[in-house]
Amino acid sequence: MTTLRLRPEDPADTGAVRRVLAAAFARPDVATPPEVGLVDELRDSDAWLPKLAMVAEYGGEVVGYALFTRVRVKSDAGTAPALSLGPVAVAPHRQRIGLGTAVVQAGLDAATELGERLVVVLGDPAWYRRFGFSRADRMGLTSPWSGLGEPWQALVLPPTTSGEAPAPRGEVAFPTAWSRV
Ligand SMILES: CC(C)(COP(=O)(O)OP(=O)(O)OC[C@H]1O[C@@H](n2cnc3c(N)ncnc32)[C@H](O)[C@@H]1OP(=O)(O)O)[C@@H](O)C(=O)NCCC(=O)NCCS
Repeated sequence: MTTLRLRPEDPADTGAVRRVLAAAFARPDVATPPEVGLVDELRDSDAWLPKLAMVAEYGGEVVGYALFTRVRVKSDAGTAPALSLGPVAVAPHRQRIGLGTAVVQAGLDAATELGERLVVVLGDPAWYRRFGFSRADRMGLTSPWSGLGEPWQALVLPPTTSGEAPAPRGEVAFPTAWSRV
């Protein structure tokens, strides 16, 4: 049986992560898709959360990736931390066998363990719905992408302790690295 390991990225994985992103987001009009540079830039920024850069290692090869990085939600009440999910990628030769679902769910579980309360994502709702994501604009969350409607999504994670504050609402501020994509 082929072994699947879901774990945080370590420094030795950087090259493999770049290759997974380049293959999954490959387009005929660009030599290197912008998602590769986005992840490199986020890795060097204070938005990076080492425990929440998840890889899927299948048969000893890193073939899947789900990145959660820090964003801030600004409201009249102040600023609260949240997570942004993305990029999510699985190498084409290993797609459609459940690795994408598994690596995202592993990241969501780790985020819950760490006491995170809110994850936002911009992507295809047909894909993210399976994890419980729904329209973020209907949850009181705005961003430069809120005008897109359905692709702007959010998920409230279950509280790990009773009496925790409700998930934040407001304007989600992304690090400048995101303006690349
Ligand atoms: C999206 C992606 C990560 C899914 O990875 P995966 O390992 O193939 O996913 P899984 O095997 O866990 O799940 C496959 C399911 O997702 C569906 N799916 C795959 N890509 C999808 C998409 N863009 N929109 C909707 N559904 C999608 C498949 O139809 C399949 O459905 P099923 O479970 O009903 O059969 C992978 O296809 C990928 O890397 N795509 C290119 C990069 C990308 O677009 N990433 C962002 C996604 S918004």
